Amino acid sequence: MNRPIDTLISVDKANKDLAEDYAESLNITFCETELSDGLSSKAFAKKMADKTEKDCILLMDEAGLHLQMLQPAVFKIQVNFVSSQMEYRRIKGGGRNQLIAKAVGLKPNVSPVIYDATAGLGKDAFVLASLGCHVLMAERNPWVRVLLEDGLRRAAIVAKDKPELKVIIERLKLVATDAEELFKLTHAKPPEVIYLDPMFPHPEKRALVKKDMQMLQYLVGEDGDAENLLNRALSTEVERVVVKRPRTDEAIASKQASYVLEGKRNRYDIYLHSGKT
Ligand SMILES: C[S@@+](CC[C@H](N)C(=O)[O-])C[C@H]1O[C@@H](n2cnc3c(N)ncnc32)[C@H](O)[C@@H]1O
Repeated sequence: MNRPIDTLISVDKANKDLAEDYAESLNITFCETELSDGLSSKAFAKKMADKTEKDCILLMDEAGLHLQMLQPAVFKIQVNFVSSQMEYRRIKGGGRNQLIAKAVGLKPNVSPVIYDATAGLGKDAFVLASLGCHVLMAERNPWVRVLLEDGLRRAAIVAKDKPELKVIIERLKLVATDAEELFKLTHAKPPEVIYLDPMFPHPEKRALVKKDMQMLQYLVGEDGDAENLLNRALSTEVERVVVKRPRTDEAIASKQASYVLEGKRNRYDIYLHSGKT
């Protein structure tokens, strides 16, 4: 298998053991190094590139675990549920009036239990949890999973002093498996919604694709089995299956959606279990 990453480098003594555990779980090389003050981005990239055969590494620094691209451009990205961007979305994002809330069927005092079968960087799951839903996330890609796991870990630390964040983070659970395993689980409270947002090819120019999407493309590529996943979700007893798609793309399944909600960039194809409204 062509692995996109072969090395995890820790430049943070405090989290060295954790970084080593992550490297071991991914079966990649672990090394530690120190960065001198004032290192230019070019010098930094060179120092890191000397330790890997790939275009990127996993980097543990004092701000947590990152995917660090070294070429063609030098940038890093991480899962950050406490960024100002996420906070802005949480507070000013439109609450239960936003499209994703309508798509999963949120109504006053109704907060469904959701399986997010394609967790990715957890952004949609976080929005849903901040709207009151309990979300069980599945992520099968080991590189994405470890970034998400570290994002949840850091958010839980920050949340200790922020009760409003703590309740949200406690509503999020991650399982590091293919969604198929999630569908087999028996739960005290089975889900009312399965949410799917598989990777699709991006025809746009690279510069137009957001950095986190570039990262997902690098790590995951395309989810070629999305139709199987949707059919499997539709074969469960769940009331509602929601598929997020780019607004103008074709539907994943030949089966007609019960209805569609369109936004500026994305749309949601909503499949209701027969007999339910
Ligand atoms: C477009 S990303 C999801 C982005 C996510 N909605 C967010 O807000 O960050 C799709 C993710 O789904 C994962 N995925 C696709 N099919 C899966 C499956 N059958 N089981 C588990 N994860 C899956 C891919 O590895 C990828 O990380």
